[in-house]
Amino acid sequence: MFAEAEEHNPASRQDSQAERQEKRLAKLRRMASYKPELKKGTNPLAFADVLTSKQFDRASIEAVMTVATEMHAARAMQKKLDLCRGLILGNLFFEPSTRTACSFATAMMRLGGEVVQLDASTSSAQKGETFTDTIRVMENYTDCVVMRHPTVGSVAKAAEVAENPVINAGDGKGEHPTQALLDIFTILQERDVASPDGLTVTMVGDLKNGRTVHSLSRLLKHFDNISINYVAPDVLRMPREYIEEIEASGVKVREMESYRDVIGETDVFYMTRVQKERFETELEYERCKGLYVLTKKDMDIAAKEMIVLHPLPRVDEIDMEVDADPRAAYFRQAGCGLSLRMALLAMCLNKVDMGKHVI
Ligand code: NCD
Repeated sequence: MFAEAEEHNPASRQDSQAERQEKRLAKLRRMASYKPELKKGTNPLAFADVLTSKQFDRASIEAVMTVATEMHAARAMQKKLDLCRGLILGNLFFEPSTRTACSFATAMMRLGGEVVQLDASTSSAQKGETFTDTIRVMENYTDCVVMRHPTVGSVAKAAEVAENPVINAGDGKGEHPTQALLDIFTILQERDVASPDGLTVTMVGDLKNGRTVHSLSRLLKHFDNISINYVAPDVLRMPREYIEEIEASGVKVREMESYRDVIGETDVFYMTRVQKERFETELEYERCKGLYVLTKKDMDIAAKEMIVLHPLPRVDEIDMEVDADPRAAYFRQAGCGLSLRMALLAMCLNKVDMGKHVI
């Protein structure tokens, strides 16, 4: 009856159309504040931030390695992955980057998502906007933010104000947890092992200012029978707090100024760049640069299965003639980084379930 009456009365039909529209808009307004449910799954990074290696334990490192292994194989098999279709990554870099910025961007694209890149040199940071304001705005546009900043602790601060996952792509001389995860992943790939248990790792160079060695040490401490040789001049030694933390977890730690006596028994040789940008004066940097250069001669006395890693960029600390040695894994390491970052994005955006295969 009502329908009939409405049919003969265009005004009331219009009314009910308007009512329907209003109801729909109210529903859409409610939908716009929808937050994806945290499915009770086994993904330890679901909607989580990645800020420090401290947040990982052995089980969560292994979960990341499992997903990264799936991603690595998927890439090799040229499988198209669409796990992040419709999602957008915000790349916020307040410090220079080649690998980290490009690999996160490529990772998102390989998962079917898209990327917005903020160039800090042309952004409102130049007008004095704080990075916490920038991140509050960027998270309105994107689903996840990757951030690099020169100040220790800044990325954690950004994560406090942001609701979406925030990933630390390096905070000054603090940490670089995604590099450390990709270093572990590279070790597993290169040595064809399921875990780093039992390995001897020699880290060389600027251990004071190099954030990659800080984060890597913190991940390695969760594995069994690990030995770490820290090789640096006195002024660039591994900070005490890290040594104490790593030793307390059962890692056998030795500090020395030359790697000559340990290269023959090293499984993973991890070279780093002297971090010029962290020195107070050019003179102080000049005193430290060029102290270590890995050469073909060193490789002659190194173990046959040793692998050489370097987070890159390299300045002069690995002689180019070493590149042709099959043990030089640093460029393959960059490739592993892409797969690892695909895994991290898919996990943080809760697009993988640990019980299920990706390919
Ligand atoms: C490292 C970094 O930024 O800390 N680079 C990288 O992310 N691959 C190492 C360095 O700059 O020396």
